[in-house]
Amino acid sequence: MSEQQKVYPVTPELAESAWINKEQYAAMYKESIESPDTFWGEQGKRIDWIKPYTKVKNTSFDSHNVDIRWYEDGTLNASYNCLDRHLEKRGDQVAIIWEGDNPNEDKKITYRELYHEVCRFANGLKKLGVKKGEVVTLYMPMVPEAAIAMLACARIGAVHSVIFGGFSPDAIASRVVESSSRVVITSDEGYRGGKNVPLKENVDDGLNNPNVKTVEHVVVLKRTGGDVDWNADRDVWWHELIADCADECPIEEMNAEDPLFILFTSGSTGAPKGLKHTTGGYMVYASMTHQYIFDYKPGEVYWCTADVGWITGHTYIVYGPLANGGTTLMFEGVPSYPDYGRFGQVCDKHQVNIFYTAPTAVRALMAQGDDVMDSSSRSSIRLLASVGEPINPEAWEWYYRVMGNSKCPIIDTWWQTETGGILIAPLAGVTDLKPGCASIPFFGVQPALVDSEGRILEGETEGNLVILDAWPGQGRSIWGDHERFVQTYFTTYKGMYFTGDGCRRDADGLYWITGRVDDVINVSGHRMGTAEVESAMVAHPSVAEAAVVGYPHDIKGQGIYVYVTLNDDVEATDDLKKELIKWVRKEIGPIASPDLIQFSAGLPKTRSGKIMRRILRKIAANETDGLGDTSTLADPSVVDELIENRLAR
Ligand code: WT7
Repeated sequence: MSEQQKVYPVTPELAESAWINKEQYAAMYKESIESPDTFWGEQGKRIDWIKPYTKVKNTSFDSHNVDIRWYEDGTLNASYNCLDRHLEKRGDQVAIIWEGDNPNEDKKITYRELYHEVCRFANGLKKLGVKKGEVVTLYMPMVPEAAIAMLACARIGAVHSVIFGGFSPDAIASRVVESSSRVVITSDEGYRGGKNVPLKENVDDGLNNPNVKTVEHVVVLKRTGGDVDWNADRDVWWHELIADCADECPIEEMNAEDPLFILFTSGSTGAPKGLKHTTGGYMVYASMTHQYIFDYKPGEVYWCTADVGWITGHTYIVYGPLANGGTTLMFEGVPSYPDYGRFGQVCDKHQVNIFYTAPTAVRALMAQGDDVMDSSSRSSIRLLASVGEPINPEAWEWYYRVMGNSKCPIIDTWWQTETGGILIAPLAGVTDLKPGCASIPFFGVQPALVDSEGRILEGETEGNLVILDAWPGQGRSIWGDHERFVQTYFTTYKGMYFTGDGCRRDADGLYWITGRVDDVINVSGHRMGTAEVESAMVAHPSVAEAAVVGYPHDIKGQGIYVYVTLNDDVEATDDLKKELIKWVRKEIGPIASPDLIQFSAGLPKTRSGKIMRRILRKIAANETDGLGDTSTLADPSVVDELIENRLAR
């Protein structure tokens, strides 16, 4: 199979200036694997502890007894580590740059201001009776108060459960039930792309669900001033709650293994599960990965475009950057508003040095043409990063050439809600970059590829990606259901953490994520990464986006079904289909020839931008009756169009 083997070597400047160079990486990685207690014992000191730990690693992946503990006799507070400890040195430094949906709205908050805001709100939560260990649910727009509420929970030992603001009332209800929250924090409305999002209304609807029995208080931030229903027994305005609160609040002393937050994530089966993350190891890992993987240097402006409703927002907007005393940018809006040049404009406006986004956003911009970035210079950016799905080489090249002016390394970060932080990524001063390649494991991470029987494969090969031993940032359990945690992640391959991803290791020992294993298709006995075919498709100049699924095929077992969204000015013709088939045969090989190509105006995506392959597989398989839950889609009407025009009838 052909593959783009363009390599972008580490530049001499980066080898010199980055936190870590090749030799240091080799030595540190070796120590992290051979002597984890020494390595992580030392790294743990990047965090301030109340009572220092004497034990470091105590973990077991044994499926009869999965038990993961780090720094288990140490105590600390995450909010203290993100705020108090910076006050002396950088109290007046900007902690959060907030950029509104409306380009004329922005705000800068210093560490001292953030500290006082967090303390005030923490005191407000205490007034509502919030206690250590209880779960507080957040359903917030991307405003600083989202981070303030998270840190306030952490300050008093409450466990936050953030629900992405795009989820439906039903999703709110089930998550609140699962976590038995007494307090929900929301906002009257949010702004996104010039539209108002009815957050309070969604909360009201969600809490009306008869299964919700625990909620006593809803704290409402006034963001838009829009009309909301008011339940005087239950609802309280944020500003009224904190009006008489002191702006100092003592920290709660937390054990390293006390929960910091839960975060719901979807699996391939069952209802979303609340992953439980704890305090000590998570903070050490968030801080360390943020510093080294983004090569973050003091004083730099760092922007991760994720929403705080996802793990990316938790670890790389809030906890990692703030633990490191960094300046983190929070963006309320979307890449296309007021126009597709927005990302670049914001980078110029706030002189962003490090920019972290998702391939789906890159492709959306790319589809607009190169001149989409003409309204900005982006000259302040020195490092670009990517997360969420494999980044196809064409998007990688565009990101490099256009967004980064051909001068910034691209750090493709592979990880999961479950992993708490990044596990596999190139390091700017260490790794020669290959477009689309997640590259090397971070310290302490032991990836392995196994076959379907769980046998470990060596050398240049492809298999199921497992991790052989624990790392400090790892999720510890599923809230209220440890058995499900064990079942989901530790029983497929005994004694190993199963990621659910397929992966290839190349001749240089670098890791290429090929997509979820449930997306891997088997055509005439050949295993094929759907990401690989998609990558080839979108490399075609007419194609904006493509999604590939397998569908039942009499002769081949599975055939290749491709959904294609064309660039704006391209006509959907049969000749183009033929051309695309030829194209893929040329890019990958005859075994990858698409059997069916369906042109479509859009693809079904979650509000976080992930293509919902489950739906595409069903449509391709003609199983349109059992499409399941489509409520999390950004635009459910896309599905009707796809069904209408499906091909394999
Ligand atoms: C799944 C995890 C953790 C960040 C956001 C997603 C896919 C994520 C990459 C990447 C290839 C990636 C994997 C993974 N994924 N990043 N850089 N290259 N695949 O978190 O919702 O928990 O999803 O996203 O399939 O298993 P998530």
